[in-house]
Amino acid sequence: MTVLQLPDAASTRALGQALATIVRAGDLVVLTGDLGAGKTTLTQGLGAGLGVRGQVASPTFIVAREHPSLGDGPALVHVDAYRLGGLDELDALDLDSSLEESVTVVEWGGGLAEALAEDRLEIGIERPRGGLVDLPGEAEHDGVLGDHDPEAGVRRVTIRAVGPRWADTDLAALAAAVG
Ligand SMILES: Nc1ncnc2c1ncn2[C@@H]1O[C@H](COP(=O)(O)OP(=O)(O)OP(=O)(O)O)[C@@H](O)[C@H]1O
Ligand SMILES: [Mg+2]
Repeated sequence: MTVLQLPDAASTRALGQALATIVRAGDLVVLTGDLGAGKTTLTQGLGAGLGVRGQVASPTFIVAREHPSLGDGPALVHVDAYRLGGLDELDALDLDSSLEESVTVVEWGGGLAEALAEDRLEIGIERPRGGLVDLPGEAEHDGVLGDHDPEAGVRRVTIRAVGPRWADTDLAALAAAVG
């Protein structure tokens, strides 16, 4: 398991771009993290790194969006598992057909997407809380970035490679790419 600190959104994006250099068609990335943790930001970096078509956005109102490659690389399939009631619905999307030709990213996939593939990258993004609350009326806190600020707070990312597909992958190299 690799643990990284991401001080800003640009570094979250950079991690996504670095991921693009180690993934290939058929891979599954399971992204977990609270609201606003940076899951979509990371997927945007991955999409940029893979060179796929279209704007990678929060898959709101959409269960899954496919971004075909602009070149001859794999497509990016971006899934919002939060909108799914359960694994049966993920199955119903018939993603299996495109799993082989795509890099599939499932946001909020913890506990849900695992059953799709024995080989997967599990990425957890944590936004540590505490100490950064801008309480109204408390002068000493005025101007301090609060927990309501989406940009506030270094993210702690844990990357766990599961399954034989990743046996020879050097996850520590990702840390160097993020800087
Ligand atoms: N490492 C970071 N440090 C600070 N801010 C960050 C970092 N990574 C991403 N952000 C910012 O956090 C905000 C939320 O990011 P993003 O939309 O990617 O989160 P998400 O996990 O996809 O949220 P949701 O659960 O709503 O889908 C954005 O404003 C983004 O720029
Ligand atoms: Mg999102």
